[in-house]
Amino acid sequence: MRLKDCHNFQDFRTLAKKRLPSPIFNYIDGGADDETTYRRNTAAFETCDLVPSVLTGVKDVDLSVTVMGQKLALPIYCSPTALQRLFHHDGERAVAGAAEKYGTMFGVSSLGTVSMEEIAKQTTTPQVYQFYFHKDRALNRAMMQRAKDSGIQVMMLTVDSITGGNRERDLRTGFSIPFKLNLSGMLQFVLKPMWGINYVTHEKFRLPQLEEHVDMGSGATSIGDYFTNMLDPSMNWDDVAEMVKFWDGQFCLKGIMSREDARKAVEIGCTGVIISNHGGRQLDGSRSSFDQLAEIVDEVGDEIDVIFDSGVQRGTHVLKALSLGAKAVGIGRMYLYPLAAAGQPGVERALGLMKAELERDMKLMGKTSIDQLTKDNLRFRS
Ligand SMILES: Cc1cc2nc3c(=O)[nH]c(=O)nc-3n(C[C@H](O)[C@H](O)[C@H](O)COP(=O)(O)O)c2cc1C
Repeated sequence: MRLKDCHNFQDFRTLAKKRLPSPIFNYIDGGADDETTYRRNTAAFETCDLVPSVLTGVKDVDLSVTVMGQKLALPIYCSPTALQRLFHHDGERAVAGAAEKYGTMFGVSSLGTVSMEEIAKQTTTPQVYQFYFHKDRALNRAMMQRAKDSGIQVMMLTVDSITGGNRERDLRTGFSIPFKLNLSGMLQFVLKPMWGINYVTHEKFRLPQLEEHVDMGSGATSIGDYFTNMLDPSMNWDDVAEMVKFWDGQFCLKGIMSREDARKAVEIGCTGVIISNHGGRQLDGSRSSFDQLAEIVDEVGDEIDVIFDSGVQRGTHVLKALSLGAKAVGIGRMYLYPLAAAGQPGVERALGLMKAELERDMKLMGKTSIDQLTKDNLRFRS
C-alpha cells in the first residue's frame, strides 16, 4: 500500500500502522480505559442526518471561516498534538507546511518536538500554542512571553488533562518518553527498521518548549513525571483569569464539556472554547463532543467562538458540527496517521482530500458558504 492508495481516514490509518512500530502506532491510535468515549466520538455523528437543499446554484463554494480572529481557508485546523517527530522525522515542520499550503491554522503542543519559534518563522498561517499550566507561575509567564515574542496568534490552554488519562495500550507496550519498552515492545521496533533508521539518522529527539525547564533528555524525568510533578492540579478559574489577562489576546480553553464551564470561560474573558474530550484519551465514559455541542452553542455561541474537536473522520462530520454552530473543527488523528504514513506529502494529501470532500458535500447540500449551514440542515433520529 502506498500514499496514492490512501483515499480516506481508514486508509491512512492502515498505512500508518504498516510504517510505525506498534507502541508508537498504539500511542496515536489509543484512548483511555475501555475506549468507550473514543468510539462514541465518531459514532455520535450518526445520531443525526443531513437534509440537503437542491437547485440553489452551487458553482463556487467558499469554505473559509473566521475563528479566534483568524481567517482560515478551510473550516478545519490541525489541533496541537505531542511528540510529532516520533511519528515522522519531520514532525511539526511537515504539519505546519501542509497546513500553510491549505491556508489553515495548526497548533504546536507544549510537548512539541520542534520549537514554536522555528515553526512561527517557517509559516505564514496562524499558529496556536497549546499550553499546560505549571505549578511554577513564573514558568507559566515565561512560556507565554516566549509565545508572544514569536508572534503566535492564539493561546490554547488545555484544561482536560489535570492528570494523565489511563491509556492501557501504552501500559502494555511500555510506551513512555524516554522509552522504557518491555521486551515485546522492543521487538516491535526491530520489526520496523526503517523507522529506527530515520530516527537515528535525523536530528536528536527534543522537546524544545520544555527543555530549558525539564530535564527529559537524560532520562531523569518522563512525560508521566512531568504531568505528575510539574503541572498544577490545583489550577482553578482565578489562575486562568490571570493568564487570560496576561496574554491579552485570543485565548481559548481546550477541553470544555459543560455549558456551565463555557459560561465561566466567557466571564473570565476567554475568546473561545473548544468542546473536546482529547480524542477520548482522558476521561473514558465522558460524553462525546458532538453530543455536547448544541447545548454549549446555545449557552455562549453568541458571545465567544465555540470550536469543536474529537472523532472527526469525514467531511460530513465537519458539516454536521458546523451546522450545530461550531465556528471551526479541529482534527487530530486525521492528520497524524497521514504524517506517520508519509510525512508532509501525507498530510497534504489528507488535507487535499478533505478539502475536495468538503466542497463536494457542500454542493450536495446546496450550500455555497459555511454560514449557510444551520441546524435546520439536520434532523436528529429519535
Ligand atoms: C497522539 C496524540 C497526541 C495529542 N497530544 C496533545 C497535546 O499535547 N495537547 C493537547 O491539548 N491535545 C493533544 N491531543 C488531543 C488533540 O489535540 C485533539 O483534541 C484530539 O486528537 C481530537 O480527536 P481526534 O484525534 O479524534 O480528531 C493529542 C491527540 C493525539 C491523538
